[in-house]
Amino acid sequence: MQAKSAGLFVAAFLAAGGLFLTGSAVMAQEQPKPPTPAPTLIPFPINRPVPLPGQVTPTPQVLPVQPPEALVWDANEKELTVKPGAATAEFFFAVTNVSEAPYTITSIHTSCGCTVAKAPPMPWTLAPHSDGRVEVSVNLAGKSGTIMKQVTVQSTNAPKLLNVTIKIPDSPELVRLRNMQMATADPAAIFKGECASCHVVPTVGKFGPELAKAACGICHEAERRATMVPDLKNLPHPTDYAFWKEIISNGKPGTLMPGFSVAKNGPLSVEQIESLAQLLAKTIPSKLTPIPGTNTTLVRLPPSAGLPAIPPPPAPPAPPAPPAVPK
Ligand code: HEC
Ligand code: HEC
Repeated sequence: MQAKSAGLFVAAFLAAGGLFLTGSAVMAQEQPKPPTPAPTLIPFPINRPVPLPGQVTPTPQVLPVQPPEALVWDANEKELTVKPGAATAEFFFAVTNVSEAPYTITSIHTSCGCTVAKAPPMPWTLAPHSDGRVEVSVNLAGKSGTIMKQVTVQSTNAPKLLNVTIKIPDSPELVRLRNMQMATADPAAIFKGECASCHVVPTVGKFGPELAKAACGICHEAERRATMVPDLKNLPHPTDYAFWKEIISNGKPGTLMPGFSVAKNGPLSVEQIESLAQLLAKTIPSKLTPIPGTNTTLVRLPPSAGLPAIPPPPAPPAPPAPPAVPK
């Protein structure tokens, strides 16, 4: 008697569940969710949206409940580092229906207008043991840094979220601009922090040509160097040991040419600076001959060089005026 009534109860319950389910599968597509019913001890159909009395259900199509583990995705999230300036980032997610029943995906949404998901027309039914693929294209116009987008794959189950992360490196132009701004604010910036990995570390313990390449060539011999960085072999003014030593030690005030001496917060020892000055004085011919009567070639430096100008030699005394010839 007990067992029989329990059996009846289960049968009634299953029938009710089936009804609920049929209604809910249709509802899930078109209708806003009514408030979630209060939790009860009845386990399964009750959490699904329930049609309100009098509601019209437009699509007569009925989708079976599908076990969530039926679809196996190759990943939940994917990450891509694009080239600076890339227009789009392209991903795909592969999916397999590992179950014995067809599985229907009802819709796919993306988290922004910049993200487009491509898949077969909806509803998209994957036959048992068949594969499919969702392509995701993110438009990167106006984007920078690290961005994350989401794709929601909807079926009669809980939605499946696919995440994509795109890393957009700064363009070389932007990096240069930022470095130049830092160096303008603090000429010794290039010797500090992450800048040092390129501008200081290669100079450590070096002398002569190796040092010139590491300390000076990085800027002065770079193919893509900024326009204001001059070719040291073609300076428009005379150069000598004293000139090289001065510019290497103290840099050119008010410009991006840093001073390398310890006094200027630079990385080079006195011996390293002298080794450079000797090398450059020896290997780079001075453009103009020193002006007779002075013992330096610095006289012809333009005032913009930021180096102390030495007054030009006194003009030779004017020849005596010719005697006035009476007419
Ligand atoms: C990955 C190596 C690297 C790092 C890190 C680096 N630089 Fe440079 N820097 C270069 C190279 C190479 C050049 C030569 C120009 C070029 O090729 O872009 C250069 C050139 C420069 C110039 C001359 C202007 C120009 O663009 O030609 C300045 C100023 C400068 N760097 C400052 C900095 C500062 C400030 C930092 C740190 C915030 C820094 N750099 C970090 C490699 C580096
Ligand atoms: C961070 C990049 C950078 C590095 C490293 C660098 N320079 Fe310069 N240098 C410059 C820039 C920028 C200028 C142009 C300054 C200006 O605007 O007039 C310059 C100018 C010069 C000038 C021309 C000065 C004049 O007025 O005629 C000399 C000489 C020079 N540098 C020598 C050197 C030597 C030698 C080294 C290596 C010890 C070196 N530089 C390392 C950026 C650099």
